[in-house]
Amino acid sequence: MIGVGKTLISQERIQERIKELAARISEDYAGKDVVLVGVLKGAFMLMSDLARQIDLPLEFDFMAVSSYGSATQTSGVVRILKDLDYEITDRHVLLVEDIIDSGLTLNYLLKYLNGRKPASLEVCTLLRKSGIQQVALDVKYEGFEIPAQFVIGYGLDHNQLFRNLPYIAFLDEDQLTQA
Ligand code: IMP
Ligand code: MG
Repeated sequence: MIGVGKTLISQERIQERIKELAARISEDYAGKDVVLVGVLKGAFMLMSDLARQIDLPLEFDFMAVSSYGSATQTSGVVRILKDLDYEITDRHVLLVEDIIDSGLTLNYLLKYLNGRKPASLEVCTLLRKSGIQQVALDVKYEGFEIPAQFVIGYGLDHNQLFRNLPYIAFLDEDQLTQA
């Protein structure tokens, strides 16, 4: 596919890592009901694969957000496009994210969700870019630490494309500009 660069994380490694995370989550929350809150659109694939490996009574909710700022830089101010459908007060909430880049989106979401007084609030992210977070974040479940470069696939897009790739790849910008 034009624009898809070198593979960073194969489909097999993603699925293996998700099984490990799901096993930890199933153990950590044993005996509890959990609400998975996915951040659209990027987290939809992780949410789907992760949920199928978790052995707990699970409920699902989704939020959609867009960050103000330029295309490549988030400002930390987040606009909520779709709020939760259900109350999370006194619930065990696990926020599911695709990637933590600056960390500003997640930082905002955690403050917002904590304001609803959940019984607990933790984060599961597939990817975290190494060394570029602008805020200190406590992320309990993390799939992979990756270099601070733009990646696509497995839910992550470039101009809304490439979300359907079952693996994570670098973006090949040269191919895109030639096409
Ligand atoms: P942050 O607020 O800077 O942490 O950015 C969070 C959001 O930016 C993510 O949830 C993604 O939607 C998007 N994003 C950040 N880095 C990438 C990337 O490498 N590829 C695709 N989307 C990204
Ligand atoms: Mg996202």
